[in-house]
Amino acid sequence: MRNWHLTDRHQSLILSSLDDALPHVAYWGAALDDDLAELTAASEMDVTGGMLDANPPISLCPEASQTFPGQPGLMLQDATGAPMLPRFRYASDQTRETAISLTYSDADLGLTLTFDLAIDTATRMITAQTTLTSDAPVRIHWLAAPTLPAPQLTDHMIDFSGRWIGEFQTTDIPWAAGIHMRESRTGRTGHEHFPAVILPARGTTNTRGDAWAIHYGWSGGHRMVAEELPDGRRQVQFGHAMGTDLAPVTKAQTAKLYATFSTTGLNGIATTFQRHVRDRIVTWPKPDTPRPVHYNCWEAIYFDHSLPELTAIADRAAALGAERFVLDDGWFGKRDDDTSSLGDWDIDPRKYPDGLGPLIDHVHELGMTFGIWFEPEMVNPDSDLYRAHPNWALGPAEQVLGRQQMVLDMANPAVGAYLYDKIAAVLSAYDIDYIKWDHNRVLPFPDAAQTRGYYALVDRLRADFPLTEIESCSSGGGRIDLGVLERTQRVWLSDSNDAIERLRIQHEAALFLPLDVTGSHVGPRHCHTSGRTLDIHLRAWVAAQRHMGFEMDPRELTEDEAQVLRDVTQWWKDNRHWRSTAAILRLDSADPSVIAEQQMADDGSRFVVFAGKHATSEQILPRPLQLTGLDPKARYSIRLLNRDDALPNLSRGSQAIKSRDMVLSGQYLMQHGLTLPWAFPETMWVIEGTRT
Ligand code: DGJ
Repeated sequence: MRNWHLTDRHQSLILSSLDDALPHVAYWGAALDDDLAELTAASEMDVTGGMLDANPPISLCPEASQTFPGQPGLMLQDATGAPMLPRFRYASDQTRETAISLTYSDADLGLTLTFDLAIDTATRMITAQTTLTSDAPVRIHWLAAPTLPAPQLTDHMIDFSGRWIGEFQTTDIPWAAGIHMRESRTGRTGHEHFPAVILPARGTTNTRGDAWAIHYGWSGGHRMVAEELPDGRRQVQFGHAMGTDLAPVTKAQTAKLYATFSTTGLNGIATTFQRHVRDRIVTWPKPDTPRPVHYNCWEAIYFDHSLPELTAIADRAAALGAERFVLDDGWFGKRDDDTSSLGDWDIDPRKYPDGLGPLIDHVHELGMTFGIWFEPEMVNPDSDLYRAHPNWALGPAEQVLGRQQMVLDMANPAVGAYLYDKIAAVLSAYDIDYIKWDHNRVLPFPDAAQTRGYYALVDRLRADFPLTEIESCSSGGGRIDLGVLERTQRVWLSDSNDAIERLRIQHEAALFLPLDVTGSHVGPRHCHTSGRTLDIHLRAWVAAQRHMGFEMDPRELTEDEAQVLRDVTQWWKDNRHWRSTAAILRLDSADPSVIAEQQMADDGSRFVVFAGKHATSEQILPRPLQLTGLDPKARYSIRLLNRDDALPNLSRGSQAIKSRDMVLSGQYLMQHGLTLPWAFPETMWVIEGTRT
């Protein structure tokens, strides 16, 4: 028997391999210090009637050849199309304190399977990847990243779905016999299928209880199989969407799987992902430069670009506090609407007769940096590029278009070279520190080569323009995952700038995304995607919860609204230093109409709570809001930051918190909770806390 133990001192992942067979997870949970052989023996299950004479383990790659009673981790054929049923045996292993590499082979079939697993002791993230090599080319239908067992004392899994302007919707899926499968077959991560699952133990909430989480870091669409076997055991497999990588190969590798276990509720999952994304996944071109407040012109002007208008808007944006000006869609080709010009990445001389220089110079004179929009992987049939190279489009000429556009074949090296040259020309000609990289339609069919081509183009541009940041946008949040975040610094979480929608979307997304990568903009007074009219206080505070920006025409703001926005932006700048590494802790709100979170400084010395009320409550008075993660014995000075401008006239009581700071123990704040004043719906309380 062989055993391996990965631990970060909070969680343990213990692997065991019996009789040279593939290893399986004998234990994944809170850290242990047991004798590994004894623990493996203890976790062996009984055999009874109607079963095989031994239980085929849920190995890191369950094998059909072992009569595994569920989905195998590998499905492949040889060059003649004959199915292969490998039976892997131990070949070698390399073990370091926080990383192991386990190699197993099937000598008869000429196949080798390697599992690379590592644990990050600071972020508490487990990373796992499977690699298959073959002596002769094989066709791979399904290759799972290392298969993990799911706990049996959990009633449901938390699954993610969504849509345009409605990303990160969580669903509780009850465990039942058989398969719960999620597959994104759109060729991108997708609004509909954020590639993750959370397995909460019975009774787990945001702030307490055990939970396991698994995420697949791939931008081409994934497949997840969460299966309860007839014997009651449960397994979770993630890999590329099935059959999207069918060319015969001698080597195949899954994307990285990210997994973590928490004893502190969903917040333990969230803080691991937030930290790992911020400190290990994203590379920051200028790590010591604070995140700049953005201005993006999309919802102000759409395709209607004119230098006088844009310079006037830039003046107002800078005066409000913007530090980076992002020129969105419409500056190239003859792009007067969304029917043409994708692919023609030359500056439109009708709109910019002297190039982008005059606008960029103006933006720089105002003290802002300049960013620009591209949608590189797309082409409109009405474009010079398509007319010259119709065969560069992916899929048949006769296909259903999406936003009047087609997808370029990113696996074609000529396409990659063309796009590189076009983008590099713009980045070389001007001082540009930011690209908003969009992707507005699904692929005509899913194809892993497309994602590899996209990654290669981004990687090449990043190597040559290392100081340029990139935002991943795909009609909002259609391409968010840890694969894309290895190459970008920000995600455009949603095209919804409706603060009420955004409050929910960013609350759920905080299970995975830290503050600094999550873009959030103050939209127009009348929201363009919901038709709602929302007050500037709410719009400003919701944007201030994440990486703040503005996206309305600032000339629509009254002087009072502009002042609110200036004040909140200044607060954001004054606090961005510590909030940049703060943990976003989701609070268990006793009132479903209140979505609340606590952003806790790394050193525990301070926090800010955002309590957003998106609807009216059932009961009359606010329910106390329990805080979390405080030192029960410490005292905290509590200030209702926006008490002067947010108190409605219907709040008639004389609560102390309305007029002064209060000093309360962590114990009280966590056990009883904060009793906030009565509030209108569509408002937000902002509470600052400082350890005294
Ligand atoms: C979709 C994006 O999500 C928007 O923010 C905007 O950039 C448009 N595309 C531009 O076409």
